[in-house]
Amino acid sequence: MTTIPSVLLLSGANLNLLGDREPSVYGTATLADHVASATATAESHGLSLRHVQSNSEGDLIDAIHSARGVAAAIVINPGAFTHSSWAIHDALAAFDGVVVELHLSNPDSREPWRRTSVVAPVATGSISGFGGHGYVLAIDAVAAELS
Ligand code: DQA
Repeated sequence: MTTIPSVLLLSGANLNLLGDREPSVYGTATLADHVASATATAESHGLSLRHVQSNSEGDLIDAIHSARGVAAAIVINPGAFTHSSWAIHDALAAFDGVVVELHLSNPDSREPWRRTSVVAPVATGSISGFGGHGYVLAIDAVAAELS
């Protein structure tokens, strides 16, 4: 029996408010919309996808730990934890698989404090600035890395 490689999609702080939160920056699609397109893209590549959203750093770290030895890849939009969480950095460093950092907006084109990502040094690669299409691009990138 062959096992289907799985992807953990992680959504951090405030992303539960997508669709309602600053639509001029993040668009009008909801997080459920983005998860649906990521799931459909994963299935088209023969991958399964599990999604976890939390506003708590510890929950995200626990989810990363739970992916160790289980998931082939993590796609993570940490929200503002991107710019501050060395604990998420360390958890991702202990994950032995593909890591894609994902942002709807392009943080480099925004306020100066968003230009530092503490996640980027432990990511395989990053996708930013393509809005909801980034979820499709991130899963495509995972599939290419795994093939
Ligand atoms: C974000 C960018 C972060 O700077 C911000 O704090 C977010 C969303 C994005 O998807 O563009 O919450 O990760």
